[in-house]
Amino acid sequence: MAATIPESMQAIALSQYAKPSDYNFATLPTPEIQDPTDVLIKVYAASVNPVDVKMASGIAKAMSKDSFPYKIGYDVSGVVVAVGPDVKSFRIGDEVYARVPQDKRGTLAEYAVSPEFAIAKKPAKISFTEAAAVPLVALTALQCMEEANKKLEGGLKGKTVLVPGGLSGTGSFAVQLAKNVFEAKEVITTLSTGKISKARALLGESVFTPIDYTKEDVAKSVGTGAVDYLFDTMKTTTSLLKTVKRGGVIVSVSTIASGTQIKNVGMDVPVVIRWALDFIDWGYRWWCGRAGVTYWYQFMRPSGADLDKLGAWITEGKITPIVGRTAKFSDLEGIRQGCTEVFDGKGGVGKFVVEMF
Ligand SMILES: NC(=O)c1ccc[n+]([C@@H]2O[C@H](COP(=O)([O-])OP(=O)(O)OC[C@H]3O[C@@H](n4cnc5c(N)ncnc54)[C@H](OP(=O)(O)O)[C@@H]3O)[C@@H](O)[C@H]2O)c1
Repeated sequence: MAATIPESMQAIALSQYAKPSDYNFATLPTPEIQDPTDVLIKVYAASVNPVDVKMASGIAKAMSKDSFPYKIGYDVSGVVVAVGPDVKSFRIGDEVYARVPQDKRGTLAEYAVSPEFAIAKKPAKISFTEAAAVPLVALTALQCMEEANKKLEGGLKGKTVLVPGGLSGTGSFAVQLAKNVFEAKEVITTLSTGKISKARALLGESVFTPIDYTKEDVAKSVGTGAVDYLFDTMKTTTSLLKTVKRGGVIVSVSTIASGTQIKNVGMDVPVVIRWALDFIDWGYRWWCGRAGVTYWYQFMRPSGADLDKLGAWITEGKITPIVGRTAKFSDLEGIRQGCTEVFDGKGGVGKFVVEMF
């Protein structure tokens, strides 16, 4: 029997741009099925990403067409409670997870809606909390790695991969994917001192070679021309360029997107800013190109099909979501603290997940 869906719900939503310490609940209308392929999900867990808290702070207000109340959250796991007439792959009662598209933002709420194309069935092996920690960061790591795999001569198999931030959201998946799925020979990652033993316990002893970035000169420790693929999660393209060999690839998710890329994801970039960002992006590509290295910035794309691939690897035990901190949805102070940790980009382990129950 279909569950009764209330007309209104509680959500973390802002009346103006704010830092996490000022986050609050709002009562909002429960989202509705608007398109024939929409799926309404009762949220069981939602994870928080840097983009959530940075955009909510107004960092890109000159370019974003935000309306208020500003809803937060792209990652969700939960149970399907209603489906549009054209939904083919999901039924009421299915356990699912998704990175919802931009226009459906707002998963830190009791209900969330997503088009079918962005959703996948939750792997039975993991909890709703773990599932919520997967979508945005794992899709990012996977899609960047797939592109690098195509671009590198001979692919990533047997190659050396460098992933700064091995216990960050994106980094923890990238390390595991590079070694256990793409079969890199060596995966080097940077970690702060206390995280090296944690990473060994969480990701597997033999999966990576650690470098303590707080004590070592990373470029020196890695060595010149030692790396085939640098997945830049931590704005290290410039400082680590020399570690990448000629013919190698840098894919960045942390430097800066070109103005054209930002426009293409639906942001309203004033033309002068677009040109400036295009110029900076060209500068990165030119600078890396001089060293014989191909560089590009990449945005992730919501994709249920890619989540299905990730789900299969989770089930096989090749990758595992890393959840560092959790807070119950009823615990506003806990949510504020977890979001502050994500905002500061320091000290966290894996993902911060908000649990509804
Ligand atoms: N383009 C896209 O589509 C896309 C998608 C996802 C993410 N991103 C961006 O990618 C970046 C990373 O995202 P994320 O979710 O992985 O971040 P995150 O999980 O919030 O990473 C933060 C963690 O990184 C560690 N860290 C900070 N500086 C470091 C450094 N220099 N070297 C190694 N580790 C460092 C910190 O731990 P310690 O303090 O203990 O070192 C911290 O806990 C963000 O800028 C995010 O906005 C972009």
